[in-house]
Amino acid sequence: MTVVSSKYARIENDLYQTEPWATEALIRHFPVAGMKIWEPAAGNHLIADVLKEAGATVHTSDIATYERPQDQWLDFLDDLPVTFGGDGIITNPPYGVQNRTAVKFAEKALERCPGLVALLLTAKFDSGSTRTHLFRDNPRFAGKIVLIDRISLLLNNESGTEDHAWYIWTEAPRLPRAPVLLYAGREAA
Ligand SMILES: C[S@@+](CC[C@H](N)C(=O)[O-])C[C@H]1O[C@@H](n2cnc3c(N)ncnc32)[C@H](O)[C@@H]1O
Repeated sequence: MTVVSSKYARIENDLYQTEPWATEALIRHFPVAGMKIWEPAAGNHLIADVLKEAGATVHTSDIATYERPQDQWLDFLDDLPVTFGGDGIITNPPYGVQNRTAVKFAEKALERCPGLVALLLTAKFDSGSTRTHLFRDNPRFAGKIVLIDRISLLLNNESGTEDHAWYIWTEAPRLPRAPVLLYAGREAA
């Protein structure tokens, strides 16, 4: 994840964690009650716990176990033909150098889940000519929720240095429509 300048060492596995308010901001716009959700980079379950609290059933997987056991060990970027029969994938994925890992996560998530996909990514992630297949040219791209507050991804109460947004894809729409642009912050408006 590009939240730290390159002169600093990156945290192993990109374990930057999502303060609960950011997931609460997502589900204010996209409620998850009753849905079966896969959190494929679950870390310490900061996202999974909020989803469960909101009434979702959550399957957690990760390549590592930290303080919370995962339902499954899985390298999400492997080539296994894993598809998800539930309703959606929601995560804050590892970003990698120049967001390259995040691009692969987005591609895999869309391949593996025909329903809802919601990824927490950097605020300008949808810019760039190499990502048009995920956004401009992707009929599943449904919306972006710009977070107007900064997340403390190190959970140390210090505001982060990066702006973030949720990017949401849904099942292919039956009618042409433009993606929606929404805004959300720590406090519900
Ligand atoms: C940015 S952290 C987010 C953790 C959690 N989703 C959250 O928001 O608090 C990224 C997570 O991705 C996991 N991860 C990194 N590479 C992965 C891979 N190839 N497959 C699955 N998980 C991976 C890391 O272990 C880490 O838990």
